[in-house]
Amino acid sequence: MTPNPHSWEQRELRSFFHTFSDLPSLQQDGPTVMERGDGMYVYDTEGNRYLEANAGLWNMTLGFSEHRLARVAAKQYEALPGYHTFFGRNSQPAVALAERMLELAPAPMSRVFFTNSGSEANESVVKLLWLMWSGEGQPQRRKLISRKGAYHGSAVMTSSLTGKDYVKAFGLPLPEVVMADCPHAWRYGNAGESDDAFCHRLADNLERLILAEGTDTIAGFFAEPVQGAGGVIVPPASYFKRIQPILRRHGIPLVADEVICGFGRTGNIWGCQTLDIAPDIIVASKSMSAGYFPMGAVMLSKQIDTRVTEACQQWEEFPHGFTTAGHPVGCAVSLEAIRIIVEDGVLENVRTQSKPFQSRLSAMAEHPMVAEARGVGLMGALEIVADKSTRQAFPGAARIGERIARAARLRGLIVRPLGSSLVLAPAFILTGAQNDWIFSTLESVLDQTYRELSGG
Ligand SMILES: Cc1ncc(COP(=O)(O)O)c(C=O)c1O
Repeated sequence: MTPNPHSWEQRELRSFFHTFSDLPSLQQDGPTVMERGDGMYVYDTEGNRYLEANAGLWNMTLGFSEHRLARVAAKQYEALPGYHTFFGRNSQPAVALAERMLELAPAPMSRVFFTNSGSEANESVVKLLWLMWSGEGQPQRRKLISRKGAYHGSAVMTSSLTGKDYVKAFGLPLPEVVMADCPHAWRYGNAGESDDAFCHRLADNLERLILAEGTDTIAGFFAEPVQGAGGVIVPPASYFKRIQPILRRHGIPLVADEVICGFGRTGNIWGCQTLDIAPDIIVASKSMSAGYFPMGAVMLSKQIDTRVTEACQQWEEFPHGFTTAGHPVGCAVSLEAIRIIVEDGVLENVRTQSKPFQSRLSAMAEHPMVAEARGVGLMGALEIVADKSTRQAFPGAARIGERIARAARLRGLIVRPLGSSLVLAPAFILTGAQNDWIFSTLESVLDQTYRELSGG
């Protein structure tokens, strides 16, 4: 059938330059243009309903029809529709949000500033660290340690901090970035190595890396508590316990990138609480506004705050900022989103639903195409393989993740293919019945794909 050239999908294809989209699939299936949302569901322009098992990009954690957020936004638009945080000016919602975030911080934090996104927040941290070290007479401390598999954003430095092959497409990473190991025991553990021995080895490697690069060249260490876009990599229990003393010993600030984990995803307000991390700097975004407004935040420990403030003296300011950062509407929306998550039973629901979610996820490891099922809280991933006994992945040309995701979409389920894994991260308002439906649907999709691939 010839597609209608006036459909949203055809108009989209002609006008929209897609980011992070599989171009062959786009050519084959076309885009999906959404029209509206309701709870866990989104509806496309044809009226098809999808259960969004990724909460958009991990961020729509209160689902797609939280009217309280819309009402708060409307009220704030009437009162003060926009303002900024330059030249000592500010708005009430930004102050109130900063105070609330400090109250909720997983470790004593001193002050907060806002950005419009996770990338901007991480970029800001890099500049802040460079300014701090330079102000302390160590301008050579510019290197940043990140980890393979990490995702810290899409701007130039945050792409560099992203431990994925595709950053080479842009001639990145920048030379300041140094990559440490990815804490994925299933993939990188040696045969017979215990989780703790694995963490011990990674900690030793980290210390060797620091010494080889030169301690006095390193500005900071970036880590997601759970690597999200790396495929939901939950580090073994002793990982952060083993690496933190090394960072401390070498005076290297630890930046916890809580863009995905922050505000509930792992079953606690912070991933730092779930993974036992004592951060010097925290970066948040996504769930802080439940995706209803572009927001990002950077929280500083007292020590970092003092050091950066002193380093700013010679410049008479922190010469950095974004026009719409700390937007009063975004801050008001975030305050309400955080209130709903923390005080209105939503975090409690994450804890309740995490149990059946993780138990159905683990059960998927029985499937002949699933080599590992991993996750924590309401995030999980399935490692899809061609051969379970050898852990051999499907060849790239099989586009297995896309194939499974497409079959799921045809049944009204949105899941995210990520390399060789399939990622699930539903909104925090998930019910038990929806959880059952997600996994039953996924099981039949995997069965169907398996049958097709084995010629059955
Ligand atoms: C851990 C982490 N950090 C940073 C970012 C970048 O955030 P944004 O896309 O808002 O710039 C993301 C986005 O997914 C993320 O997952």
